[in-house]
Amino acid sequence: MANIIDGKAVSASVKQEVAEEAAKLREEKGIKVGLAVVIVGNDPASRVYVNNKKKACEAVGFQSFEYALDENTTQEQLLDLVNVLNRDDRVNGILVQLPLPKQIDEKTVINAISPDKDVDAFHPSNVGRIMIGDYAFLPCTPAGVMRLIESTGTEVSGKQCVVIGRSNIVGKPMAMLLLHQSGTVTICHSRTKNLKEICLGADILVVSVGKANFVTGDMIKEGAVVIDVGINRLDNGKLCGDVEFESAEKKASYITPVPGGVGPMTIAMLMKNTLTAAKQQNGLM
Ligand code: GUN
Repeated sequence: MANIIDGKAVSASVKQEVAEEAAKLREEKGIKVGLAVVIVGNDPASRVYVNNKKKACEAVGFQSFEYALDENTTQEQLLDLVNVLNRDDRVNGILVQLPLPKQIDEKTVINAISPDKDVDAFHPSNVGRIMIGDYAFLPCTPAGVMRLIESTGTEVSGKQCVVIGRSNIVGKPMAMLLLHQSGTVTICHSRTKNLKEICLGADILVVSVGKANFVTGDMIKEGAVVIDVGINRLDNGKLCGDVEFESAEKKASYITPVPGGVGPMTIAMLMKNTLTAAKQQNGLM
């Protein structure tokens, strides 16, 4: 039976580190770290994420500024807000919750966020820096996954790492972070042939496909570290990951649960990026 990786505990320790540094910034330099969170429309999942991000800000001693805009907001109105936030000194980080309503082009909005305040690390300039290993901000979910792998004591260097999923938010930056730690990285996706054989070669398997129970125990090498980035809601209302937990935990040495695995890490790393942004903007890094 696998060891269960406790994402809540690891994220609590990241947030603790951030809270201590934020307190020091406040006391020694009079700097109050601020995050602006922008949500457009009424997507219930986005609402939950945004509320969790605001709660995390409170927990680590940041100010949060919420901008909840109407579903019918135009792209121009959203860009105007982003420009105001780019110039607002109280705001160190700007997060525009995705997805956006269909009248708004996500790429245009991401490109408008000042790269110095882009705590999601979605701006092309930050994406490029991730590619060359010159990080301003670590991409939140992949950075959270790296921290979870580290918590198991697993060395990435020289390991066969398989990432399933090639999104800009998770799969691609995930592969880069594993590569930077000298993993041998394979990226799989919907067109991949022999997926099962490739997965069976993985010492570290990161799954981010958005399909409930997509990876089953028979695809997992004995002793592998399995990280499940998926969050899917089943018809019965229950949450489950992209990995079929019951069969996978019989093979893995370590596995993340859903919920309580990667999810809490993403927000903890967002807090860390916001702290980094505040330090950089104040010439402290
Ligand atoms: N929507 C789903 N995940 C994310 C994320 O990490 N950041 C933002 N801004 N939107 C998201």
